[in-house]
Amino acid sequence: MTQVVTTVAELRAALALLKPARIGMVPTMGALHDGHVSLVTEAKKHADHVVVSIFVNPTQFAPNEDFDAYPRTLDADLKKLGDAAAIVFTPTAREMYPEGFATTITVGGPSAGLETDFRPHFFAGVATVVAKLLIAALPDIAVFGEKDYQQLLVVKQLVRDLGLPIRIIGAPTLREADGLALSSRNAYLSADERKIAASLNAILKDAIATARSTGNLRAAEATAIEALWNAGFAHVDYIAIRDAESLDHVTALERPARILAAAKVGKTRLIDNMAI
Ligand code: PAJ
Repeated sequence: MTQVVTTVAELRAALALLKPARIGMVPTMGALHDGHVSLVTEAKKHADHVVVSIFVNPTQFAPNEDFDAYPRTLDADLKKLGDAAAIVFTPTAREMYPEGFATTITVGGPSAGLETDFRPHFFAGVATVVAKLLIAALPDIAVFGEKDYQQLLVVKQLVRDLGLPIRIIGAPTLREADGLALSSRNAYLSADERKIAASLNAILKDAIATARSTGNLRAAEATAIEALWNAGFAHVDYIAIRDAESLDHVTALERPARILAAAKVGKTRLIDNMAI
């Protein structure tokens, strides 16, 4: 039976009963899909019990973003998890950010550019809440999806820099049959937009092939941006081929690289990335 707790005190009391067993954590914002569940499955490979947190974190949304519209589906989420999670932690905003809360964690390194160019406060919101969630549960391991690749690197940097004794594990992106990465925001897509959305991953694959065959990374990016426009995307925030570890700019495929993209179909912003 999954135990649902809403305060840090309850979470710690529940965890104290489980320790010294190994604890894994999977932080989420809910509206759980099979991608989230795959993170829980991965966590179970490294831990005896898994804590899933479900918290739509207000500090990582800009005022013009979809905080209010973000799906909140706790009952369905609990069903989706079945008994895969020992504990589900669903704090209120007040629990995470009590009256007078005044601390923000900003991470340098991999947070520069890409998402930050379009969502300047995003990673400070993510880093602050992830630090709080990890400190609340103090798991042995925590699993984050490669779907949010820059976020994964930012979390790794955060945990290293703060010396948190937690191993961060990256897990591969789960996709629909046509390549679209599973995302809670896919629920916003109309049938027409859903078709356009699928081309994002196909275009990234084409760009990888072009980058490998020509070695001209800037041309591969430019062609992919053009292809997204032609496919019907309303706006392309970026397509970038970067170093897979640092997200630094690269001009040649000498070390592991990653192609990362963000683009809007209608009003819905999609992100995706792949290893090159
Ligand atoms: P959320 O978007 O709910 O994602 C929770 C975790 O699920 C993240 O680690 C994300 O990378 C992973 N994920 C999402 N889609 C996936 C897919 N198709 N395949 C595999 N994993 C996938 O990311 C967040 O929440 C928040 O920023 C959070 C880290 C919880 C901080 O608020």
